[in-house]
Amino acid sequence: MSFTKRQFVAAALALLPLAQAQQPATTDPGNPSLKTYKCSKSGGCVAQDTAIALDWNYHWIHTVNGYESCTTSSGVNTTLCPDAATCSKNCVIEPANYTSSGVSTSGDALTMHQYVKSNGVYGNASPRVYLLGSDGDYVLMQLLGQELTFDVDMSTLPCGENGALYLSEMSGSGGRNEYNKGGAAYGSGYCDAQCPSELWKNGTLVPGGSPYCCNEMDILEGNSRANAYTPHPCSADNCDKGGCGFNPYAQGKTNYWGPGGTVDTSKPFTITTQFITDDGTQTGTLKEIRRQYIQNGQVIANAKSSAGIDSITEPWCESVDSAATTFGGLTTMGKALGRGMVLIFSIWNDASGYMNWLDSGSNGPCSSTEGNPSNIISQDPDTHVVFSNIRWGDIGSTFNAPGGSGSTTTTTAAITTTTKATTTTKTSSTTTTAGGATQTQWGQCGGQSWTGPTACVAGTTCKVQNPYYSQCL
Ligand SMILES: *[C@@H]1O[C@H](CO)[C@@H](O)[C@H](O)[C@H]1NC(C)=O
Ligand SMILES: *[C@@H]1O[C@H](CO)[C@@H](O)[C@H](O)[C@H]1NC(C)=O
Ligand SMILES: *[C@@H]1O[C@H](CO)[C@@H](O)[C@H](O)[C@H]1NC(C)=O
Repeated sequence: MSFTKRQFVAAALALLPLAQAQQPATTDPGNPSLKTYKCSKSGGCVAQDTAIALDWNYHWIHTVNGYESCTTSSGVNTTLCPDAATCSKNCVIEPANYTSSGVSTSGDALTMHQYVKSNGVYGNASPRVYLLGSDGDYVLMQLLGQELTFDVDMSTLPCGENGALYLSEMSGSGGRNEYNKGGAAYGSGYCDAQCPSELWKNGTLVPGGSPYCCNEMDILEGNSRANAYTPHPCSADNCDKGGCGFNPYAQGKTNYWGPGGTVDTSKPFTITTQFITDDGTQTGTLKEIRRQYIQNGQVIANAKSSAGIDSITEPWCESVDSAATTFGGLTTMGKALGRGMVLIFSIWNDASGYMNWLDSGSNGPCSSTEGNPSNIISQDPDTHVVFSNIRWGDIGSTFNAPGGSGSTTTTTAAITTTTKATTTTKTSSTTTTAGGATQTQWGQCGGQSWTGPTACVAGTTCKVQNPYYSQCL
C-alpha cells in the first residue's frame, strides 16, 4: 500500500468543543457499527459487536475555541502544533463525517466509494477505515493457524481502482496517550509495510512526519480485472515492500479473475484465506497462506500456474522475492499474525502509477493508462466496493466444510445462507485434482481429511508437515 494521501473533511460542527487540553471535541466519536462474526469448530459463528473508525487524517482538527484548522495541506500548523503537548492544548479533533467520506454500513456490510458527489460535483473521498471492538480499541485479529472469510462485490471497480482488505500490526489502542485520548476510536496509529510518513506516529504528533513501518498482510488488493494477496514482513525499521504476492493473471491464468471468469467478478463472491502452520496449532510456524473462493455455492480452488503454484509457501516466496529472507519471510509474517493485527478496508487509486503493478502488463489485462484517475472519475464516478459477512476463526469454521462439519451451528442468517449454499461442495480449501492424479511440487498430498491426490510429481516426495498437511517437496 502506498496510500499517503491526506484529506481533511471540512464538516460542519455538530457540537461546540467541550473540553480543553484534550483532543476529542465531543464525547461520541460516532463510529458506525459493522457486525462481524467470530467462529470456532465447536461453537459455530457468533456475531461480534464491532464498528469502524475512519483514519485519523480524515478528521477535522481545529482550534479549541474556534474553527481555524490546525493542519495544513502538507502537515500541521507549527505555531498551533509545535509539539504534541502544545497541540493538545490548542487543538481538538472532530468525529469524522462518514457520509462525506464515502463510507456507509448496514448490518454486516460495509460500502466504500472512491468519489462522493457534493453540490453536483464528484470529489475524491478514497476512505480508509479500521475494525474497532466494543471496548473502543481495534480488534486485534490473531489469524495464525486460523482463517478469514468475507464476501466482496468488486463489480464496479474498473482498471486502476483498488478495493483493499488487509491487516497491519498497528497498536490496538491506536497509540492512545495523554495528548491523544481518542486513539483507535478516531482512527489513529496507522502504519504499513511501505513505511508511510505519519504526522501522528502511533498516535503521537511528530510535526515533520516520520516513517512508520509495520508488518502488513494484504488479504485482497483488487478490482474487477485483477487481484493479488501478499505478505509484507518487516524488521524494526524496514519492510519487504514488494512481497511475494499471488496474482492469478501473473501466474498465467488470464481467465481466472474477471467479469465472466472462473471467479466471476461481475457478481459478489466469498474469499477464504487460511494461515497454515507447521504443526496445525495457533503457535506454530507459518508455512502456507492458502486461498479459495466460493461463488454460486461452489468452492473454487485458487488458480494454479503451469508450474503448479497455487498458494503462498516459503520456498515459493524465496524463489520469487529476493527480500523475503531478509525480513524472515512467512515466519515473521506468522509471528505478527499470532500477536494480532488490525483489519483495514480501503478504496484508492493511483495518480502516478495508475495501479499498473496490480492490473497491467504481466499482472492483468488493463492498458498502462486506463487506470488514470482522471479516466475513472469521468467514466466510473460511482465506483465502490462492498465488503460483508466478515468472519474469522478456526480453519474450516468460517464456511461449510466436507461432510457437514464446520459452521453448521451458526447463529446468523447470513452465515446460514453461506452454509446452505456450500453443503453440496466436496472439499474445503484444498488443491484438489481428480482422483488418481499426481500432485505438483509444493502442492498438498496428505493430511487429516485430505481427499486429493497423494502421489507426487516425479522428482518430489510427499513429506508430512503436520497431522493436517503433507506437501510434495
Ligand atoms: C497558523 O496558526 C497561526 C495562529 O492561529 C495563524 O496566525 C497562522 O496564520 C497559521 N498558519 C497557517 C499556515 O495556517
Ligand atoms: C456530513 O456530510 C454530509 C454530506 O456531505 C452532510 O449533508 C452532513 O450535514 C454532514 N454531517 C455533519 C454532522 O456535519
Ligand atoms: C504505540 O503506543 C502504545 C500506547 O502508548 C504503546 O503501548 C506501544 O508500545 C507503541 N508502539 C510502538 C511500536 O511504538
